[in-house]
Amino acid sequence: MMTVKIAIAALGLTLQGLTLFGGAAFADGDAAKGEAKFQECAACHKLEAGINNVGPSLHGVFGRKAGEIADFRYSPAIKRSGITWTPDTLDAFIKEPQAMVPANRMPYAGLADPAARADLVAYLQKATK
Ligand code: HEC
Repeated sequence: MMTVKIAIAALGLTLQGLTLFGGAAFADGDAAKGEAKFQECAACHKLEAGINNVGPSLHGVFGRKAGEIADFRYSPAIKRSGITWTPDTLDAFIKEPQAMVPANRMPYAGLADPAARADLVAYLQKATK
């Protein structure tokens, strides 16, 4: 019985550790490197409020639901996705847009490198405010 309790306690600590690590990953991102990486997105996305391009403005994107800018014509897929943009959901979307939201219309293959994504998210957290 004692062993079971210890095992459960150890599991709890491990999970807590993973959560902490997950949260720290974005905080550790290098916003300056992320700004350079954003050039891949800048062809289609502006950071200024109200300026849509090939893609919607990313101003104020964190905390917003996907597909919410009134004067941008989104795909039905992104409107239906139910996603709220957070550092975690943005990270998952950028990793493989078609895997997270099948049939979305963002012509971007994905960014496989987790460190590059952390840099990008760190930059966007500052630059989209
Ligand atoms: C070639 C153009 C293009 C590139 C490059 C591109 N996007 Fe997009 N993006 C789009 C389009 C178009 C949409 C709308 C997709 C839809 O309606 O299905 C979109 C949608 C989005 C959304 C959802 C916005 C919302 O209002 O819900 C986010 C977030 C986003 N892109 C971030 C990025 C980031 C970060 C990058 C760079 C890693 C990037 N995009 C690269 C064209 C692009």
